[in-house]
Amino acid sequence: MPADPSGLNRRALLAAPLGLAACERFASVPTSAGPLAPPLKSLAPFPIGATGMTGQLDDPVWVAAMRRHVSQITPEWELKPERILQSGFAYDFSASDRMVDWGHDQGLRVFGHCLVWYSQGLDVFTDALPTARFAAEFDRYVSTVAGRYRGRMVGWDVVNEAVAEDGDGLRDCVYARKLGAEAYIVRAFQQARAADPDAVLFLNDYNLENNPRKGATFLRLAERLLKLGAPIGGIGTQSHLDIEIPAGQIRGFFRDAAALGLPIHVSELDFPMQRDGGRMPDLRSPAEKRAQQVARVGELAEAFMALPARQRFAFTTWGLRDTDSWLVREEGKNRPDESALLLDARGRPNPAYQAVADAFGR
Ligand code: XIL
Repeated sequence: MPADPSGLNRRALLAAPLGLAACERFASVPTSAGPLAPPLKSLAPFPIGATGMTGQLDDPVWVAAMRRHVSQITPEWELKPERILQSGFAYDFSASDRMVDWGHDQGLRVFGHCLVWYSQGLDVFTDALPTARFAAEFDRYVSTVAGRYRGRMVGWDVVNEAVAEDGDGLRDCVYARKLGAEAYIVRAFQQARAADPDAVLFLNDYNLENNPRKGATFLRLAERLLKLGAPIGGIGTQSHLDIEIPAGQIRGFFRDAAALGLPIHVSELDFPMQRDGGRMPDLRSPAEKRAQQVARVGELAEAFMALPARQRFAFTTWGLRDTDSWLVREEGKNRPDESALLLDARGRPNPAYQAVADAFGR
């Protein structure tokens, strides 16, 4: 059996008085070990974000860590079409409402992720649906969800992952087939703008630093969409970093992205040490891999910091502590030992933390 990643001592827990046991049962990690990292939000002159999920809201240790470190929250799952959209085009807002309310109760900025995503909504948005009905339901979905939270979201990922996997053109998906490759994106942005005029509307994608071809396609797409009348207010780079990419590649993407003049959101940052299987054996020591990781994260933080202040929308990590990461969870990548975030399981700084602190000049 793998070691318990929470670090909780089960035997001590069983022996503890009932009140304490009940409280600790919800606590993902103990608070007692070692000095905590200084608040991430104190490092930066721009908002620092992290994800949260309804299952974490009753965990006092996670709540304390969020309160300490972030000024913005992105609900990790609850605002996605897969959660909201039900069969027959019914909507269920129970989880999304809970997340948005919680964020506001904590005084956080709440960021919406996401309105349209090629991989979601497919049970109802099918090729078989008559096009007029498809278009009407598409508009209704975007305007209903964005409208429900009108004035309460600081921004929305309006369309997620529109560029093809390899970076060669746009992704083929049911929305593109039914409404037109660029037209569905323009349409989503226009619906979102009408429903929530104050939220900053983002085009969001991944592998933009990892794959320069994809980064370039993404930026050209954003330009074209703006010309077509899409009210894009910002661009989101997920930044699930491949720590093996050459030095300078991240800087290069940010330099090109800055030229668009729009605010940039580092929207889903993590930087896994482990890679998918099927590759050559890695002969480096863990310390060498850590150094590689720290160098790339430092480059990203420096590139973000180098942007003009008005283009630094927010810097968001996909999970707060290593144990909060989707990479660790079974439904994500299922790698219990992964260390891909700025804080370790106990909320102490990981090696990359200092690189970010240095880059932000605090
Ligand atoms: C991930 C969540 O973190 C997981 O919990 C879920 O199993 C799959 O989705 N790009 C995105 C995010 O835009 O929505 C994904 O989030 C991670 C990759």
